[in-house]
Amino acid sequence: MGETGSEGRDTLLIRDNRTGREYEIDVLEGDVIRSMDLRQIKVKDSDFGMMTYDPAFSNTASTRSTITYIDGGKGILRYRGYPIEQLAERSTYLEVAYLLLKGELPTESQLSDFVQEVTFHTYVHENIKELLGGFRYDAHTMGMVISGIAALSTFYPDADAVGDPDVRWQQIVRLIAKMPTMAAYAYRHHRGLPLVYPENELSYTANFHSMLFRVGTKEYKPSPVLERALDVLFILHADHEQNCSTTAMRVIGSSKADPYSALSGAMAALWGPLHGGANEAVLRMLNRIGSVDNIPDFMEGVRRKEERLMGFGHRVYKAYDPRASIIKRTADEVFEVTGRNPLIEIALELEKIALNEEYFVERNLYPNVDFYSGIIYQAMGFPVEMFPVLFAIPRAVGWLSQWQEMLEDPEQRIARPRQIFLGDDARDFVPIADRG
Ligand code: CMC
Repeated sequence: MGETGSEGRDTLLIRDNRTGREYEIDVLEGDVIRSMDLRQIKVKDSDFGMMTYDPAFSNTASTRSTITYIDGGKGILRYRGYPIEQLAERSTYLEVAYLLLKGELPTESQLSDFVQEVTFHTYVHENIKELLGGFRYDAHTMGMVISGIAALSTFYPDADAVGDPDVRWQQIVRLIAKMPTMAAYAYRHHRGLPLVYPENELSYTANFHSMLFRVGTKEYKPSPVLERALDVLFILHADHEQNCSTTAMRVIGSSKADPYSALSGAMAALWGPLHGGANEAVLRMLNRIGSVDNIPDFMEGVRRKEERLMGFGHRVYKAYDPRASIIKRTADEVFEVTGRNPLIEIALELEKIALNEEYFVERNLYPNVDFYSGIIYQAMGFPVEMFPVLFAIPRAVGWLSQWQEMLEDPEQRIARPRQIFLGDDARDFVPIADRG
């Protein structure tokens, strides 16, 4: 590094007009430079050195990753190289979970061992019932599940050995297995219904349906269409690279916290209405609009920035979110069984207007994954409070894959951004009696 030639490397030449000095900085793969290479740029030797200012990490790569690829301009999403469209059509959620965690699709025996392992770990400790029983009858299910997952760290104190790959794998399996159980327990508490234990003979999503909806019968078999639709929704939500909640998972995990604590933190990040809470916000918005006749008034509010069209827009996608297209098709299959959700008419009309109106077109605002998912969840019988939970269950595998990758990456250390300090300079303490 310095003022010499680039010797065949891709480099960036930076001239500091304050000093007249030039710096040649290596360009890594994908038009990226290392921020630490800027630190040498100083006016005086005693200076700290140049940093970049990037609130909300809009233009900062925090990791090298091999898990999920997104091309936001073209609307492409791939897990470990496989297009989301192919996975949604031909794979299952647990097969995709294996792919995300291990990097390769499983063989038949690897998949059946993995399914067996997950099935074996679906039960949660009986004390969890008492924990959830302590919540008010109207507690939001997401709040209950976040607390329940955080509480699991106290049941598995050995999970703090995060440097041991075998210990890590055991917690990964436990978390994938127990997320639906915890979610179903929270839902049953919310509804005032007795809890239903997991059924090992059922598939991952059929068992989830049974724990949620079985009342007064020995067996519960959901419609195969709904079982498959939920599996497809789980595939679509499994990972989405370095979004807000995944970053939370990585940041918490970087302090070597146990995965239950880290995952409950990631869930908390997901809950916000700008992230995984958007599916719930979409449904509340559609209910508030109430009828197609009220759309013009609502859209006028959006244009005046008094309203936000929930389920539209994305930091990365500047084209149609590929997940939204698949969900739209899945909705039609679900409606064949459940009947058409009347809110779909409002949603379709909103989309039609947004795709043609200047405000949305010039800002590249297209439907995202949350726009149609809530309409399906509602048709399947889920209350709106369950929507963010339905996002969190499959995203657990993405969070865990990213957490594992972060722990195995020798370049990662405890996450610790810098700041530009704009507060007061040093000043002397003033006793309370002397303060005006
Ligand atoms: N409705 C109306 N205007 C919008 C919307 C929207 N949904 N989203 C963005 N804009 C406008 C925004 O006001 C801004 O306008 P201007 O340039 O005049 O100031 C411009 O578009 C750029 O928006 P931004 O807020 O700077 O974009 P961002 O990348 O910071 O935010 C977002 C991305 C997803 C938070 C945002 O689009 C949003 O709030 N969408 C609604 C919530 C939502 O659906 N979230 C789910 C995201 S996908 C699933 C997930 O990741 O959880």
